Amino acid sequence: NVLILDFGSQYTQLIARRVRELNIYCEIHPFHKIPEYVADFKAVILSGSPFSVRAEDAPHPDLSEIRGKVPLLAVCYGAQYLAHFSGGEVAPSNLREYGRANLSFIKDGELFFENITEGSQVWMSHSDTIKELPTGAIRLASTYDVLNAAYKIEGEETYAIQFHPEVYHSTDGKQLLENFLIKIAKLESDWTPDSFVESTVDELKAKLGNDKVVLGLSGGVDSTVAAVLLHKAIGENLHCIFVNNGLLRKNEFHSVLQQYEGMGLNVKGVDASARFLSALAGISDPEEKRKAIGRVFIEVFDDEAHQIEDAKWLGQGTIYPDVIESVSVNGPSVTIKSHHNVGGLPDFMKLKVVEPLRMLFKDEVRRVGASMDLDPELLGRHPFPGPGLAIRILGDITEEKVRILQEVDAIFINGLKENNLYDQVWQAGAILLPVQSVGVMGDERTYENCVALRAVESTDGMTADWVNLPYEFLQKTSNKIINGVKGVNRVVYDISSKPPATIEWE
Ligand code: XMP
Repeated sequence: NVLILDFGSQYTQLIARRVRELNIYCEIHPFHKIPEYVADFKAVILSGSPFSVRAEDAPHPDLSEIRGKVPLLAVCYGAQYLAHFSGGEVAPSNLREYGRANLSFIKDGELFFENITEGSQVWMSHSDTIKELPTGAIRLASTYDVLNAAYKIEGEETYAIQFHPEVYHSTDGKQLLENFLIKIAKLESDWTPDSFVESTVDELKAKLGNDKVVLGLSGGVDSTVAAVLLHKAIGENLHCIFVNNGLLRKNEFHSVLQQYEGMGLNVKGVDASARFLSALAGISDPEEKRKAIGRVFIEVFDDEAHQIEDAKWLGQGTIYPDVIESVSVNGPSVTIKSHHNVGGLPDFMKLKVVEPLRMLFKDEVRRVGASMDLDPELLGRHPFPGPGLAIRILGDITEEKVRILQEVDAIFINGLKENNLYDQVWQAGAILLPVQSVGVMGDERTYENCVALRAVESTDGMTADWVNLPYEFLQKTSNKIINGVKGVNRVVYDISSKPPATIEWE
């Protein structure tokens, strides 16, 4: 429906999220790869960019198939780009044009600014300014510092704004996008979780026919929602594999497996704990641990996938942030994250790949899951790393250490749930430190392990801060752990943010 052309702005994905919050489907494409089906889009949005239009290596896409033909909204760099190449003038600004600003003038009677009034707060982030509007342009809005904060081109459905409507600090940003997309471009708000499920299931049916699909379940939200969609489309032809690597949370393998079975999924639980633990024996280096776990997982999964005769497809829970082609800020080169290069791969990875969630953001995956009546507890589950407790046991891994950490982790996580703190935390867990310390229990001297508790708030795991958990909760949890878990006599709470620390300790 809507094409977002990315010029490398850090906010491009936010534009997509805001558009989708209006229940309108959109796709992000890099500026130098305008899709051939551009005429099929009902509206186009140009993103901001870290470049200056005056720089030689700045993005200069050919918009001749877009401008004047499709309703166009140019944001920040986009607005400057239109001005610079269509008879206007863009020059370095000598005023501070970062952060908060307020609209001091809005032209009367413009659909684009309907329901937005003077004084509305907008968010600026640019160092150039539009000195002269392009040919045929009419000024629509100003801020106290920026005369040409918004304009339109007469005779076209082309609108340009210097501020960022996609950030929350632009108070009426969503209203503005709604004005542009719904009132001007006449798009309908019909892309809902329900409609997504319906159309995806139809597409999957058509694509897969009677083929068999193999899918690895992890217990996480993405793989589960992907499995449920595939199951709706092809039923028993979806073969799920859920591997116990022995590094899951306490009881998780059995309880999650039961949950999957209860959902009607055709799932095989494979307990390969012993195989993983023996591959990990004596390994202390975090990256070596990850490699060993990855290798054994592939072996186990490949063995299992082979037992499913005639499997044609590999189902994956890949989501949109993993597949968006991003525009590099160090030059208009492109980095693509792709896990699907064939050759030298195990057999199952040579299967064709089907990824029903590849156009969804994480919060949309949750909404789609909710619209299919998935258990809210499952949808709200904290992220858990693939290598599991292996990277939360610093140093080498033994069965005994896994047992200790599982007990500690369970007390912590259950405590969070019982105290209604779980949903206020993005991710939490316990870490077993390779540190023994002296303690006293009863009249006895102890010399036992130390565990750290970690709870962070975050939106995407890229940055995070520790959560200010109530002292009383920490106190109770510490008591429970030390009294309840043999082998632990000291508990500490991690109060480091990311950066400079990371969420996991390894
Ligand atoms: P860090 O420790 O890098 O973690 O701040 C960020 C997020 O990534 C998770 N994480 C992993 N997930 N395999 C995974 O699947 C890994 O090797 C891995 N290492 C870290 C971590 O739990 C957090 O959510």
